[in-house]
Amino acid sequence: MYPAIRSFCAAFLLSASIATNAQESKYPATPLASKHFAYPTGIPYQADTDPNLVRGSQTGYNLCNSTTEGPNSLCQTSFLCAIDDFCLWAPINPNSTIADTEGEEVAWCTKPGRGTRIFPPGALQGVQFTRTPDYVQVVGFVDQTLINLRPDDSGGELDPHGADLRGNPLGGLVYSTAWSGDNNTYTQVLEWHNFMGGGQFCFKACDPLGPNAPQFCAHNYDRIGCSYNAPSNAQNGTFESCMGDSQDYPGIYTGTDGVVSTYSQPPESLGVISSMPYDPKVPPSSNCVQYTSAQLYSALGTATATASGTETSLTSTQPGTSTSGSQTKSGASAGASQTGTTSGAGRVGVSTVLGVLGFALVAVFWCRAEIFLF
Ligand SMILES: *[C@@H]1O[C@H](CO)[C@@H](O)[C@H](O)[C@H]1NC(C)=O
Ligand SMILES: *[C@@H]1O[C@H](CO)[C@@H](O)[C@H](O)[C@H]1NC(C)=O
Ligand SMILES: *[C@@H]1O[C@H](CO)[C@@H](O)[C@H](O)[C@H]1NC(C)=O
Ligand SMILES: *[C@@H]1O[C@H](CO)[C@@H](O)[C@H](O)[C@H]1NC(C)=O
Repeated sequence: MYPAIRSFCAAFLLSASIATNAQESKYPATPLASKHFAYPTGIPYQADTDPNLVRGSQTGYNLCNSTTEGPNSLCQTSFLCAIDDFCLWAPINPNSTIADTEGEEVAWCTKPGRGTRIFPPGALQGVQFTRTPDYVQVVGFVDQTLINLRPDDSGGELDPHGADLRGNPLGGLVYSTAWSGDNNTYTQVLEWHNFMGGGQFCFKACDPLGPNAPQFCAHNYDRIGCSYNAPSNAQNGTFESCMGDSQDYPGIYTGTDGVVSTYSQPPESLGVISSMPYDPKVPPSSNCVQYTSAQLYSALGTATATASGTETSLTSTQPGTSTSGSQTKSGASAGASQTGTTSGAGRVGVSTVLGVLGFALVAVFWCRAEIFLF
């Protein structure tokens, strides 16, 4: 081998090995969204097993029980089953922002018995649960100061990906009984997104057997909030459980001319998103059953009973009567975060890494071949 080629190859192989180590220090061997655990029998102490990677250890744990339950719980196993049985991700300590704590959020839930934190009375101000052919979701209104968010936090997105594929929160797991036919058999939800902030929330759990779960639970539109990622008819002060049609995939829209387009979310470096090229389509909901919060959340204490005092019990609304689009508009900024999470960046990061790896493989092959040829 010529000296120049030899020194290039030596330098290249050295830098390639440094780059490989750098990459290894960020990405886990198995992305969180590819880890499977049966609930409750197969739950590990922590789903994240890579404490030496850049973001450090998983803050809490997934193995949760009666000793962990309550206001100090660090349980990071969450549930989305029904209007009276769901959790949201929120911070460990008071007066936090999602952007500062996205890797550490813990589960706050409506039901005791699974080792989590329980929502304080009055936290939930309005909730619409919707079941569609592709997912279940809750969208609603929350006094976010009661779940440790700063009053002015516009929030961001939690999902099982993140720029380093370890999830936000790291190791966060989600389960549901929605597809099991009984209330005691849990399905692990591999694709989900939960936007928190601006006094609102949306949490969608995509059917793991659905053909398009990654698209419905997209994680790369982290700056445009609930109204674009989970458009709904949720209304403040109303608690209802509905059937519904599935939304368009987040970021995919049909113009007035019938042309289907894909929205490209600008990077944070370009500043605040001040205009959008489309209004999201709100799918119709049907067979809505309304409740008072007291009927649903008695476990939280009596203060919730005042939240929806005017609703009569178990009123079945006519199909479609709750399709008030205007409420969705008020959600336009829900969870839309300028600080954002790193989910969107994750895609860019991964494709860049793949490109570099592709080049590296060619160069390694070439350098090895040179050794034989010269
Ligand atoms: C309860 O959960 C905690 C936290 O994961 C764990 O350390 C403890 O061993 C569990 N206790 C039982 C009896 O499983
Ligand atoms: C919450 O945090 C903000 C920003 O750090 C601070 O200005 C404010 O005083 C804090 N509020 C409380 C109640 O601690
Ligand atoms: C499961 O629980 C929901 C309420 O969370 C209830 O409406 C439903 O009837 C239950 N299903 C079965 C099969 O027990
Ligand atoms: C929802 O209603 C409650 C009670 O009226 C109110 O305090 C809260 O500001 C409302 N939330 C939003 C986001 O409008």
